[in-house]
Amino acid sequence: MTEQKATNIKWHAHAVTQEERCKLNGHKGAVLWFTGLSACGKSTIANAVDRKLYQLGKHTFLLDGDNVRMGLSKNLGFSPEDRAENIRRIGEVAKLFASAGNFALTAFISPYRADRDSVREILPAGEFIEIYVNASLETCEKRDPKGLYKKARAGEIQNFTGISDPYEEPSKPELVLDSNTKSIEELADEVVAYLEQRGLLSA
Ligand code: ADX
Repeated sequence: MTEQKATNIKWHAHAVTQEERCKLNGHKGAVLWFTGLSACGKSTIANAVDRKLYQLGKHTFLLDGDNVRMGLSKNLGFSPEDRAENIRRIGEVAKLFASAGNFALTAFISPYRADRDSVREILPAGEFIEIYVNASLETCEKRDPKGLYKKARAGEIQNFTGISDPYEEPSKPELVLDSNTKSIEELADEVVAYLEQRGLLSA
C-alpha cells in the first residue's frame, strides 16, 4: 500500500461522467492487462488487439514495457520494490484511460500477483481484464529476441524473470492465451471475441 503523503486534499467528482464518455465513444472503458514472461508475446499480441480494435472504430491506447521504462518509470529498475512501483504507476495511468471511456492495453511482465491484484482493486468491478499470455520458459528462451535470456543464463543480468527472479502465474485470470502453439492472429481474435461477449464493445 503506497503511503498517502499529501494532506488537505479532497476528491472532486467530474462534471462529465465515465458513462457519458462511454456513450460518446460508443463502447465501454476497460483495462486489458497482459501479463507473462519476457518474450511470451504480450507486446505483439497487445499490438495486434490494438490494431483490430482501432479498425473496429474503438478508442484505445497501448502502454508498453520498454517504452514506459524510458519515461514514466525511468527511475525504476527490477527489484521487487521497483517492479511494484512500476506496476502501480501503470495501473493508475491505465485507470485514467479506462475512466475516459477507452481501452487501455498494458504489456508488462508484472510478475507479482499482489501487484496485479492491487491494480484490479483500484478499478471498478469488471474493468480489469487480466490476460495471461502463457508461453513456457523453454519457448520464451528459444525465441529470446533481445538475447536477454542468454545474458541472464551467463550471469550478466541479475534478477531476470524466469531465470533468477520469480513469475507468479495469475490464479484467476479472465483469459489465458496459449502462446506456445497458437498464432498472434488467433490469440488477438480470442481477446476481441471475449470483449464482444462481455458486451464491452458497445456503449
Ligand atoms: S515488470 O516486471 O516491471 O513488469 P517490465 O515489463 O516493465 O517488467 O519490463 C520487462 C522488460 O525489461 C523485459 O522484456 C526486458 O526487455 C527488460 N529487462 C531488463 N532487465 C530485466 C530483468 N531483470 N527482468 C525482466 N526483464 C528485464
